[in-house]
Amino acid sequence: MLPAFCERLLSWFDQHGRRDLPWQQERSAYRVWVSEIMLQQTQVGTVIPYFEAFMARFPTLATLAGAPLDAVLQSWSGLGYYARARNLQRAAKLLIDTHGGQFPADLAALAALPGIGRSTAGAILALSLGQRAPILDGNVKRVLARYRCIEGLPTLPATARALWQLAEELMPSTRCADYTQAMMDLGATLCGRTQPACGRCPVQTDCLAQARGTQLNYPARKPRKTLPRRATCMLVLARVDQADLLLERRAPTGIWGGLWAFPEVSDATAASRWCDEHGLARCGAVQQLAEITHTFTHFQLKITPLLLWVTESGTHCMDSDQLLWYNAAAPAAVGLPQPVRDLVRSISLTAKEFSS
Ligand code: ADE
Repeated sequence: MLPAFCERLLSWFDQHGRRDLPWQQERSAYRVWVSEIMLQQTQVGTVIPYFEAFMARFPTLATLAGAPLDAVLQSWSGLGYYARARNLQRAAKLLIDTHGGQFPADLAALAALPGIGRSTAGAILALSLGQRAPILDGNVKRVLARYRCIEGLPTLPATARALWQLAEELMPSTRCADYTQAMMDLGATLCGRTQPACGRCPVQTDCLAQARGTQLNYPARKPRKTLPRRATCMLVLARVDQADLLLERRAPTGIWGGLWAFPEVSDATAASRWCDEHGLARCGAVQQLAEITHTFTHFQLKITPLLLWVTESGTHCMDSDQLLWYNAAAPAAVGLPQPVRDLVRSISLTAKEFSS
């Protein structure tokens, strides 16, 4: 006999749980791992097409480990949090080089890999191998914090300890994969952050927060601060007569590490100087395009694009390791941050109209 919590949750899952998600088909450790990394900061609906394209391009651990980083980042373009993609490939290489190309069936060994924390390691073991390894992602934290009214910010060590302890205590030793998916589904559907549907919840009768009517207090949250704002200019250099735009490879770390973006400059004067220094002849004046605001987790970035038509003059080779003429009609296999993708698309459309 399973404890009441598990019985109720699993019966609910049998009736209402999700079974048609792409990573639930052919459930291997590799597919579960990639999906869990994509789902760490991104919603299911956004992840599905990325996951399917990723699996078509990198169907095995070996294909991922052997691919150029640019190709991995290209597949990640638009998903954000690119450290996830860089870590994914580092972990793939480590698995090939030091684990014989197999995922270790062991929590500590998995959690030692780049980008895999305790919860993701638990999800891989429970979902792909049916091991009794609890998870504690954002959705599950909410379910558990409400179920026993666990106070305190989940980032505090004491709160995290209490949540992990409860996750351990409640997890059954059978149907571990279903139980894990059920906890995720409950958190993602009925036990939502703002409007929990407690009337339909399978564990409503013994949920402490529901009994007290305090569901919305859990888990505790830091008061939201307004995001700091930063500003930058992106230099959009368009090659006259060829719809090419110049992109520069960004340093390997940081939010857009390893991605290709427009060079950043402080103003129009610096834009002209950049061209002079790189052997580009300017055709006309700098045009300021409409500003774009891009929101990151910790700040807002105001981007002013500065467009300049140019021709290559000197002996500089622009298609180097660090610079690339990017053609939207025949795109290089590299990753672009979302605002750069948007700018490339809108400018390429304008350039097309202009030349036709
Ligand atoms: N979020 C994190 N992991 C998930 C999964 N396996 N299914 C649905 N949503 C999730």
